[in-house]
Amino acid sequence: MRVLVVGAGGREHALCWALAGSPLLSRLYCAPGNPGIAALAEPVAIGVTDIAGLVGFARAERIDLVLPGPEAPLVAGLADALAAAGIRCCGPTAAAARLEGSKRFTKEIADAAGIPTARWESFTDATAARDFVRRRGAPIVVKADGLAAGKGVVVAETLAEAEAAIVAMLEQRSLGEAGAAIVIEECLRGDEVSLFALCDGEQALCLGAAQDHKRVGEGDTGPNTGGMGACVPPPGFTAADAEAAMQGIIRPALAAMARAGTPFRGILFAGLMRTAEGVKLIEFNVRLGDPEAQALLLLLRSDLLAALLAACDGELANFDLRWADRSSIAVVLAARGYPGEPARGGTIGGIEAAAAMADVQVFHAATALRDGQLVADGGRVLTICASGADPATARAAAYAAVRAIDWPEGFCRRDIGARAMRDEINQ
Ligand code: AMP
Ligand code: GLY
Repeated sequence: MRVLVVGAGGREHALCWALAGSPLLSRLYCAPGNPGIAALAEPVAIGVTDIAGLVGFARAERIDLVLPGPEAPLVAGLADALAAAGIRCCGPTAAAARLEGSKRFTKEIADAAGIPTARWESFTDATAARDFVRRRGAPIVVKADGLAAGKGVVVAETLAEAEAAIVAMLEQRSLGEAGAAIVIEECLRGDEVSLFALCDGEQALCLGAAQDHKRVGEGDTGPNTGGMGACVPPPGFTAADAEAAMQGIIRPALAAMARAGTPFRGILFAGLMRTAEGVKLIEFNVRLGDPEAQALLLLLRSDLLAALLAACDGELANFDLRWADRSSIAVVLAARGYPGEPARGGTIGGIEAAAAMADVQVFHAATALRDGQLVADGGRVLTICASGADPATARAAAYAAVRAIDWPEGFCRRDIGARAMRDEINQ
């Protein structure tokens, strides 16, 4: 099998690492990839949203399977263009990728499928939206309908904040067309869990659950980020809880998507809130999470490539995956300044020493090579992962590896997985 992974982050490095061990693999490419990925896959200098470029390359290189990491190429129609060229793509069509590309579409599917989710209304008119939040009161959540690079959700604790978000999105078009329509919804309280499922249009296979750490600061403080760390399993979320969410959320969504004429193939990511009234859907994404993927893939004991092919060929019904019965932790090393403007260009050392430690993997995200030196080239730069028999062991191994990295301009949260460890001790 000749496989092309699309993306350049830690998630794609972990995907390439998992695929590289497959006995089915003959050639692995990654567009555009990064210096860490280059050790496993041939880099291809094509951007993730250059759909014509990606399809042209896949055709010319007789690629058997394309695996997109991020959502942007899927929303832009990569799976459709590959299907037209007769090439397998483990990802949804543009119509099905609206589960991530449109918050309103997601809420409509959730309602059609009877999936528990926050009560909502959608608006394009700022006056109507303001009247609505005044009637409902705060806290309340204002969301841009379209993709907004993580800036489209405002959890407003006060009416003033909610009204400011409405004015910014609908009247000032602060997020461009992504905010031309908005969804306003009830604010849910509880712990968040990321749940992943591989889908073939009809069947869904659980890929596990993880706890993300979205805020930049320890103790969940400071601004939101793409994710500063992940821990598997999520504290207090059992395999039975995951199966219940597969049954109550993922499978009904798949059935509703099929009924709507937009069957979902690829990886479905349900962002869940564990509320006092049970587990509710916050949002869907149409890909693996980053850094959740890194922590999850560390524990996979089956052939990922065989599973992706089964999903593409509609053969997941009798498919199963084995996972190590262990804990894993992913700690993101970010450049100072992130999630604002990150400090670029700092030299990174110590990766070999960290990667040589038992049960540790180091995945690159925003790294670059300058004159033979590895340097930081973006916000989230490395993901340091470790597995262990229990959360405390995984955590100790991951932070020992973090200490081996020599990069003065980098920082990480020191409390990734701390909850899981405390819960274990208190049991
Ligand atoms: P994003 O991943 O950028 O779409 O941001 C979504 C984040 O906003 C979630 O992970 C939650 O932390 C928060 N959020 C979204 N919807 C709600 C809601 N209805 N109630 C509470 N928090 C929410
Ligand atoms: N870590 C959350 C995400 O990938 O969206």
